[in-house]
Amino acid sequence: MVKAVVLGAAGGIGQPLSLLLKTNPLITELSLYDIVNTPGVAADLSHIATPAKVVGYLPPDDGLKKALTGAELVVIPAGVPRKPGMTRDDLFKINAGIVRDLATGIATTAPKAFVLVISNPVNSTVPIVAEVFKQKGVFDPKKIFGVTTLDVVRASTFVSEVLGDLSLAPKVVVPVVGGHSGVTIVPLLSQSSHPLPSGFAKEELDKLINRIQFGGDEVVKAKDGAGSATLSMAYAGYEFANKIIRAVKGEKGIIAPTFVNLAADKEGGEALKKEIGSDLDYFSAPVELGPEGVVSIKSLGKITDAETALVKAAIPELKTNVEKGVSFVGASK
Ligand code: NAD
Ligand code: LMR
Repeated sequence: MVKAVVLGAAGGIGQPLSLLLKTNPLITELSLYDIVNTPGVAADLSHIATPAKVVGYLPPDDGLKKALTGAELVVIPAGVPRKPGMTRDDLFKINAGIVRDLATGIATTAPKAFVLVISNPVNSTVPIVAEVFKQKGVFDPKKIFGVTTLDVVRASTFVSEVLGDLSLAPKVVVPVVGGHSGVTIVPLLSQSSHPLPSGFAKEELDKLINRIQFGGDEVVKAKDGAGSATLSMAYAGYEFANKIIRAVKGEKGIIAPTFVNLAADKEGGEALKKEIGSDLDYFSAPVELGPEGVVSIKSLGKITDAETALVKAAIPELKTNVEKGVSFVGASK
């Protein structure tokens, strides 16, 4: 039995993500919550011949509470997306309040659920969820995740393009660490499962790193005012959600980079802080997943001097983003 809930289910990410979740035979109940259109989306998905019972909820009549009752997995893609010229941080003014209110609902109704945060700016919205859970006395850092999987998916795709063989894309694994915005996105290409071509020039490497860091902008620009990545994000969000479900079902050795509170693994978190030379409370690192959530936070391993410099460059923005999320909840008490 797995009950999954999508908050923001009628949106550009919400709809395809809900479709992918509906195809998962391990999900027995799928609740779709949004401020608009969920009855239609739910009716549509409910005709698909897979086990999940799909129900759509709207705010009236305690819709959020009903959607969340009994939830084990909650994915949050609610909130506004970027337009050209905006940073993810520009979304904070609107999305911070949306995420805070949804987190309050989760902390009240489904405090033990796994919470997967997609809404931007992820570097701030994850601390917002955590602070709300702390206020409600139900904080478990092992169960709150910022979804950074799209950066990992992009790294796999772009590396396979450089290798001249897109058929490799599903097999290429590149850890991407740090956070989810511009320079806080740090691809560790030296650890790619498929090494870059020998003699790959430094300018080419810099271009590839920059493309992974700013892949989101590529989509925002191409959509020309109609939003940001939705379909690739739904794919990535599903990939991460499925890892959580597999780990909950007892599969061992599942590791994925994700933005977590480093208290999720005291020993691993402290070791990582030393490694990155910072007292940051949140960082996206490779995390081993298990039935209770985070099993361990892994070391970044052997990285190049250039990658160490990228990690260092990520820290100031990460710190500011995290503090902004934490103080937002403090100020809304
Ligand atoms: P969208 O506008 O298409 O959809 C957002 C949905 O959220 C809408 O259906 C809207 O009605 C709903 N919503 C708004 N307020 C709500 C509330 N209080 N409760 C429930 N639902 C609410 O946007 P989108 O393209 O789906 O993007 C959603 C968010 O995901 C954005 O913040 C975007 O920046 C972010 N995003 C993150 C990543 C990532 O890698 N983490 C990738 C892509 C997009
Ligand atoms: C992405 O990386 O595509 C998302 O964070 C959306 C955005 O604003 O770029």
